[in-house]
Amino acid sequence: MPTANDRTFYLTGASSGIGKALALELGSSGLNVILAARRMELLEDVARQVEERGGLALPVRTDVTDYESMRRSVEAGIERFGGLDVVVFNAGLGRPPEGSEGVEGKLAVVRTNFIAVLYGFDVVVPLFRSGGGGVIVGVSSLADVRGFAGSAVYSASKAALTLYLEARRAELEPDGIHVMTVRPGFFRTPMTEPNKFHMPFLSEPDKLARAILRGIRLRRRMVVSPMPMWLLTGMLRRLPGWLFDRLNASSYRKIRKDHAQ
Ligand SMILES: NC(=O)c1ccc[n+]([C@@H]2O[C@H](COP(=O)([O-])OP(=O)(O)OC[C@H]3O[C@@H](n4cnc5c(N)ncnc54)[C@H](OP(=O)(O)O)[C@@H]3O)[C@@H](O)[C@H]2O)c1
Repeated sequence: MPTANDRTFYLTGASSGIGKALALELGSSGLNVILAARRMELLEDVARQVEERGGLALPVRTDVTDYESMRRSVEAGIERFGGLDVVVFNAGLGRPPEGSEGVEGKLAVVRTNFIAVLYGFDVVVPLFRSGGGGVIVGVSSLADVRGFAGSAVYSASKAALTLYLEARRAELEPDGIHVMTVRPGFFRTPMTEPNKFHMPFLSEPDKLARAILRGIRLRRRMVVSPMPMWLLTGMLRRLPGWLFDRLNASSYRKIRKDHAQ
């Protein structure tokens, strides 16, 4: 579990999947958590479950792609709990939202997975600087290692996020602000539910939630899970470009065939 000083967490994407699993783990540790997402009815249900486990929860309707919305929800949390120790930027989109057309859908993925984290840092860093430090966690993906066909915008948004977090870790260290990068493989959540292709080493989100909390406690620079997927993507990263291109094209043909059926 986190250190004794880590009492209050701000968590985006808390209404489902990995964020919800993390919120419930925080509840089981008796911690305070500000739950941020757009679907308020889901957040209220997560808040109830957090409190049943012994934590305290504040659900706040938040659109992370809107700077003011994120700033207001962070402030509401600080007002409720009197401070903030750890923020987890977890909200994400695996694909363009249902009904979005053309470039707008792609921009929604980039705004949610990357631009929103830029907003989040701008909101939180001055608060942590004036308060003597804190922890910022960004949930990226092992899809950051290469441009995966069928997930072009997603891979690109997560690669941008991983590099951004890496740079910020060095920049913020002198201020006592620790930046941790989380790079999950495949986890069973509403995001991966529509995938028809085989997801190697598919794992449960509560396992990742526990790994994230352990990483925060130990002030790790990075959390990767599950390990075999990290090894597999590490190998993919080292493949020569021409060979990766061939494998990528053939796997994309298979994905398209599976989705057409
Ligand atoms: N599942 C995996 O296999 C996997 C693998 C690698 C990385 N990840 C990353 O893990 C994170 C969580 O994914 P998940 O699998 O738990 O997906 P999920 O179940 O679909 O949850 C996504 C969360 O993001 C929130 N969200 C989306 N757009 C938002 C917005 N504009 N404002 C506020 N909240 C927003 C959603 O809440 P609302 O819709 O209620 O706003 C929801 O709580 C994502 O960053 C994802 O890229 C997941």
